[in-house]
Amino acid sequence: MGETFAVIGDPIDHSLSPHIHSAAFRELSLDCSYIGYRIPKGELEEGIEGLKKIKINGFNITIPHKIEMMKYVDKIDESCSLIGAVNTVVNEEGVFKGYNTDMDGFLEPFKKKNLKIKNCTILLLGAGGAARAIVAGVAKEEAKSITIANRTLGKAIELSEFAKKIKLNSNAIQIDNIKDSAKNYDIIINATSIGLKNEPSPITFDGIKDTTIVYDIVYKPMNTDFLKKAKENNAIIIYGYEMLLGQATRAFEIWHNMEAPYNAMKKALLGGF
Ligand SMILES: NC(=O)c1ccc[n+]([C@@H]2O[C@H](COP(=O)([O-])OP(=O)(O)OC[C@H]3O[C@@H](n4cnc5c(N)ncnc54)[C@H](OP(=O)(O)O)[C@@H]3O)[C@@H](O)[C@H]2O)c1
Repeated sequence: MGETFAVIGDPIDHSLSPHIHSAAFRELSLDCSYIGYRIPKGELEEGIEGLKKIKINGFNITIPHKIEMMKYVDKIDESCSLIGAVNTVVNEEGVFKGYNTDMDGFLEPFKKKNLKIKNCTILLLGAGGAARAIVAGVAKEEAKSITIANRTLGKAIELSEFAKKIKLNSNAIQIDNIKDSAKNYDIIINATSIGLKNEPSPITFDGIKDTTIVYDIVYKPMNTDFLKKAKENNAIIIYGYEMLLGQATRAFEIWHNMEAPYNAMKKALLGGF
């Protein structure tokens, strides 16, 4: 019998994960299927029971369940305990093991393009779940320092404390106070939801160098105003879809113990825009 995989969350209709994983199965002629399964907030426990009953082989977790899912896994790997959230589960004969592939997914484009994080100064916009995985990732890659800018200053301070705990120099600032400071950083990352609804970039890129890396983790639309403005200032661009693809290929490798067909998955993803 074939294997079954899913992504759980709410909303789930817009998820591109079923397209990406189905393309990988087709490419490698695997007898597997991958579905989107809507589990509303507050119904995670029942939803998980259902997945156990049908002996799901593995699943991804997205908004709003990534943190609460920690309660329902039997084992976790190091990335999960560090970040405090689960986005990938593998079912090992009834034992649910949790992983967090957001950190590796975020780092993947740097590796692919041979861009270094070591000793870089970083400006991170946002202090939510994705931002936390990014802080863990750049700390692992030995960045020099990180400035965390967020609408709610308290959350930026909290994340900055986490950064310090894992030995990354950091400070927190209110997002309205960083408008013209992009030129002071080597890498600038948007990990807020700004851009999803075509909002204008919260910062300007005046005076940046052509070696500055600008990364937007928002992947829909692909060309956010943040990236458009960065391009106008000749920055090196990393798109949100590259992180999405990075975390999907990592999840694929956890589930199937083989190299993911990156190009087929990329083609399916870009066809989804
Ligand atoms: N490319 C990928 O693979 C990938 C992976 C994960 C997430 N994402 C994207 O990353 C974004 C954040 O995800 P998340 O899981 O971290 O969400 P989250 O935990 O809900 O955090 C949302 C963040 O956005 C900020 N924010 C929201 N609306 C804002 C506004 N109007 N003005 C200023 N700041 C605003 C929040 O600030 P406050 O603290 O002030 O509320 C918070 O820092 C989403 O757009 C998501 O789609 C992409």
